[in-house]
Amino acid sequence: MTAELSPANIGTDLDRAVAVLRSGGLIGLPTETVYGLGADAHHADAVDAIFRVKGRPVDHPLIVHVPDIDSARLWASDWPAPAEALARAFWPGPLTLIVTKSEDAPTNVTGGRTTVALRVPDHALALGLLRFFPGGIAAPSANRFGRVSPTTAQHVVADLGIDVDYVLDGGPCAVGVESTIVDCAISPPQILRHGSISAEQIERVIGTLAAVTGPARASGMMASHYAPRCHVHPMTSVHVAQTRAAEMSRGPSPLRARVLDGSVDPQRFAHDLYALLRLCDEDGIDDVFVVLPTNEGIGRAIRDRLLKAAAEPQRPNE
Ligand code: TXA
Ligand code: MG
Repeated sequence: MTAELSPANIGTDLDRAVAVLRSGGLIGLPTETVYGLGADAHHADAVDAIFRVKGRPVDHPLIVHVPDIDSARLWASDWPAPAEALARAFWPGPLTLIVTKSEDAPTNVTGGRTTVALRVPDHALALGLLRFFPGGIAAPSANRFGRVSPTTAQHVVADLGIDVDYVLDGGPCAVGVESTIVDCAISPPQILRHGSISAEQIERVIGTLAAVTGPARASGMMASHYAPRCHVHPMTSVHVAQTRAAEMSRGPSPLRARVLDGSVDPQRFAHDLYALLRLCDEDGIDDVFVVLPTNEGIGRAIRDRLLKAAAEPQRPNE
């Protein structure tokens, strides 16, 4: 069990958050997508601590959060036209851009790759904090590796306890699923992870994207990820989901089953998804039958997360 964080270390005090980051500590960082586990990107020990606390393999690079395009460009040795166009169209917002890294970008942030992931989050508290850190705040989602991302300050506290020094409470995340990741280090650019900004929205700005082929290039693209403890069953029919759940709840040794329906209002469902999965665990649910939204817009991101949540755990890069 992780020891509980004192309520005194949860709040909206930017000065506290700045002090923690300057001293090499870790903060819970609210964004519009999910909460991040943030460190000063240029504080090597603090960045190492992120990997330790998350239990994340060191070759899984971190997203660097920056206050604006100019700060992002300092991390890049090359800033191609599609990156500029997408940054102008969608930042601040739920979009992460991969570009070729500058020579002095710390290798523990970039996982030894030649590229770096950058984003300007659309959240007032995060942007307020980033004004003090134009050099960037490195932050993965603030969950233990492979588990469900946090969308409230309370989720961060429940997951990480005293392993985080201060949690900036920015309320529930507006979007609820992680940012769309676009690799702009290749031409044409390619989506590495779907999010609330859709492929269609991106193509309207930069033209046709590269088709996705070959092995996963972002860790969230591994087969098993985003997983609660209960078993997740992705479903296409509400009726079948309800029937399966009812069957499980009967018999000599009944299991506890629940149905979640993501097909009616995908935007709202994305907002609630991780909190609902966490609630299933808290309520001792064994099996959750989740009705998928259609494969478009934010529905694509939800389907991606749920199919990974349903996959059997595996070791990274297997
Ligand atoms: O919405 C988000 O993106 C949230 C908030 C906190 O900003 N962050 C987030 O970070 O989801 P994380 O670490 O959970 O997921 C980032 C993904 C990982 O799959 C990582 O492998 C990938 O981005 N990534 C980071 N740098 C990369 C790079 N240079 N090339 C390819 N993938 C990269
Ligand atoms: Mg994550």
